[in-house]
Amino acid sequence: MHHEHKQPFPENFLWGSASAAYQIEGGWDQDGKGPSVWDVYTKQPGTTYMDTNGDIAVDHYNRMEEDVALMAEMGLKTYRFSIAWTRIYPEGRGEVNEAGLAFYERLIDLLLDNHIEPIITVYHWDLPQALMDEYGGWESRKIIDDFNDYCVTLFQRFGEKVKYWVTLNEQNVFIGLGYKVGLHPPGVKDEKRMHQANHIASLANAKAVESFRKYVPNGKVGPSFALSPVYPRTSHPEDVLAAENAEEMMNHWYMDVYVHGKYPEVIWAHLERKGTAPELQEGDLELLKQGAPDFMGINYYQSTTVERNPLDGVAEGKMNTTGKKGTSSDSGVPGLFKTCRNPDLTTTNWDWEIDPVGLRIGMRRIHNRYQLPILISENGLGEFDKLENGRIHDDYRIDYIASHLQQIQEALQDGVDVIGYCTWSFTDLLSWLNGYQKRYGFVYIDRDEKDVRNLRRIKKDSFYWYQDIIQSSGEKL
Ligand code: NOJ
Repeated sequence: MHHEHKQPFPENFLWGSASAAYQIEGGWDQDGKGPSVWDVYTKQPGTTYMDTNGDIAVDHYNRMEEDVALMAEMGLKTYRFSIAWTRIYPEGRGEVNEAGLAFYERLIDLLLDNHIEPIITVYHWDLPQALMDEYGGWESRKIIDDFNDYCVTLFQRFGEKVKYWVTLNEQNVFIGLGYKVGLHPPGVKDEKRMHQANHIASLANAKAVESFRKYVPNGKVGPSFALSPVYPRTSHPEDVLAAENAEEMMNHWYMDVYVHGKYPEVIWAHLERKGTAPELQEGDLELLKQGAPDFMGINYYQSTTVERNPLDGVAEGKMNTTGKKGTSSDSGVPGLFKTCRNPDLTTTNWDWEIDPVGLRIGMRRIHNRYQLPILISENGLGEFDKLENGRIHDDYRIDYIASHLQQIQEALQDGVDVIGYCTWSFTDLLSWLNGYQKRYGFVYIDRDEKDVRNLRRIKKDSFYWYQDIIQSSGEKL
């Protein structure tokens, strides 16, 4: 469809796609890499679908040139990838592993040769197992310095070549699933510990940003936050209030800390009543203030709808990675909200609600509250794609991405400063808990039980479509 009235996408708009190290690289112990918590966790029986893990993943570590050639063929303007901490510091700290740095340097150089702007994610969940064993990972303040040292190593090595940096990917998800829902490592279900680990992660983030200013003064840095804008189920004032509570808890609780270095008061008071508020030490709030980002990175998959939570009820949000509308008991204190289905939305075959307008709403809220440029660092559709006569006709993915891009264009017209859009994902990859059956890529990975290293790359219909969209700067949307 051609929209004559639409203002064009900005000329330097970052048309992109994204990935994460553990989900694509494989080579889990190659060239000196140490084990991450995901290497260990996925090998405990029953933690993932059919006990799948990322030992080989899609073997990007050994096929990086082929994958970048596909990106170049597509005409990507940017590619967001993450660095595996355990390739750089196999033990999390101490001696640096040059082979790990060299791998990412080759990737970065190749991207630049092909006029693809690299966006580095410093942390996409693959914490060094050594730091978990030594002091419990994100639950110890010791991680603040270790994370900072790791970041500084990257800033010094790549700061001149790479302009855009993402610190923590979906802090709200890896902390929530790791310490409250218990589905990600370390598999803890304890709200007090969750809030404490979250606070420490925020401090580590702020310290890394503070170093970034020193080592990469001309770069841009921000988090990638898993955004789910909240709606009330009805216009009953109690439901509207519940939606405000949820917006504060699920979104502002994290983003206010990133941007302003402070926690929203309503939620703070609620957590104090429950006895689960994080413990602040002297100097914490000053450090948090050093973390102000240059842009807000947003990973968007779906909105959240809530209703009032009865006194003795259950509370709290769904998590993007499982997509399950979970509930959990709320320790006797009146609940803030309860998640529910949105009757006006349809869902994907993985039961995630489809809501492109929600992206526009979320971006406008962020724009109004924080006045920051926005990078859509992830958005995409997970499906069971089918290979038929050498082709993958994923028109459903095209529709999904097109409808979200149209809402971005609307948001640009609203005055929101959107600097780029990365689809999730470039190639099919490992879903943390769902194995390889859930596919997100433009490039299909042919998995063969009898030949586990086949992993042939096949371009889906969406590959050619996105190529066309990029080439026309969105004119063909
Ligand atoms: C967000 C995460 O960053 C990514 O790792 C994950 O695969 C996608 N969402 C889809 O669940």
